[in-house]
Amino acid sequence: MDKIIIRGGNRLVGRVPISGAKNAALTLLPCALLTDEALTLRNLPRLADVDGFGHLLNGLGVSTTVEGARGSDFGRVMTLRAERLASTVAPYDMVRKMRASILVLGPLVAREGQATVSLPGGCAIGNRPIDLHLKALEALGAEIEFAAGYVKATAPAGGLVGGRIVFPVVSVGATENALMAASLAKGETVIDNAAREPEIADLARCLVAMGAEIDGIGTERLVIQGKPRLHGADYQVMADRIEAGSYACAAAITGGEIDLIGARPDDMTAILAGLRDAGVTVDVHDHGIRIAAEGPLQALTVSTAPFPAFPTDMQAQFMAMLTLAQGASVLTETIFENRYMHVPELGRMGADIQVRGRTAVVRGVDGLIGAEVMATDLRASMSLVLAGLAAKGETVVHRVYHLDRGYERLEEKLSAVGADIERASEG
Ligand code: UD1
Repeated sequence: MDKIIIRGGNRLVGRVPISGAKNAALTLLPCALLTDEALTLRNLPRLADVDGFGHLLNGLGVSTTVEGARGSDFGRVMTLRAERLASTVAPYDMVRKMRASILVLGPLVAREGQATVSLPGGCAIGNRPIDLHLKALEALGAEIEFAAGYVKATAPAGGLVGGRIVFPVVSVGATENALMAASLAKGETVIDNAAREPEIADLARCLVAMGAEIDGIGTERLVIQGKPRLHGADYQVMADRIEAGSYACAAAITGGEIDLIGARPDDMTAILAGLRDAGVTVDVHDHGIRIAAEGPLQALTVSTAPFPAFPTDMQAQFMAMLTLAQGASVLTETIFENRYMHVPELGRMGADIQVRGRTAVVRGVDGLIGAEVMATDLRASMSLVLAGLAAKGETVVHRVYHLDRGYERLEEKLSAVGADIERASEG
């Protein structure tokens, strides 16, 4: 296992190319299950989770070929082909490692008439149920059974039928499963209170490229006219708004200036507004977004909520940044109940943070001090890297596999803008 060693204090200046979005990739990959033709995905990030999803699909009988030079800035190109499926089971070992495996459920039951997926169980950032995914499939006629830690969905004899899905809570994953399944169901499906995250619009656009008919893309009401079959497509994954936001925080916390090359400002409105409110200069240009921090950071009040509001996936990174702001910031996490695991670790670096229920009060301090730290989820790990970039002395971030799930070539991108960062083996 690897660790990351950071000697903090350098002002970061330069360009960071933004990779393809992890969360878009993880919902575009299962689209391959919806057709017997080839689906080519471009700009896929080189991440452990993308590899893991590829292996899950291979286990179901999907062939995958990868091209694209290692080290290139343009991501990977993967062609997936599910000519005939070998299995409709997503096993425990896969789902345990990667919760997004649940996204094979909708496509499998739509294409093959049945799917069996291990129940994801608990998760480091809270108890994340899948009831909404199952209710959506039931609305399309699927029957749901549970046995031995697995959930089995079975379509009626003639396949899934269009229906009305009203989500009581906004769920990204459940909206994705519903959208993929409805694209191959008979007749019209209406999804109300759909998640509006940009990754869902990316999924919808890919499905349209595969022959699906979807109205209301980017809104909370999606109307899908199901098709008897979908065809192959060639689709480019959107830029990662959370990766871009994380590097924006790296510029802010080091008083630096970073161009986020390829970042899409429209996907990042709440993140950019937060940065501006914190006193950071944000300029949109033809190639992306320039983030420049001069003068002290200001405290903020931020609450996470579904898109277009401030994303939960940026809460930990903003918290790291705000540990050095002037005044007291108030962060409220409304999406996941246990997403403050980075707080004690930031505390060990000298941050002053108090958590009460879903709210964290962050009182800005004069400086952070390097320490050995570790986190139990991806974005929490990034918050420790950010703190390390600004801290005095050496910070060692353990359990780097979390970062490898979501940040492509992290050390390389940060070194290129002047960070003193390296990866070493734990041994
Ligand atoms: C996705 C993202 C994750 C992000 C999250 C919220 C991927 C691979 N992951 O996760 O990075 O943090 O959206 O933006 O895209 N819920 C239920 N029942 C369900 C499903 C969800 O109660 O069946 C609840 C969850 O516990 C949570 C809320 O709904 O409180 C939102 O979760 P959801 O949007 O589904 O998150 P994911 O799709 O798992």
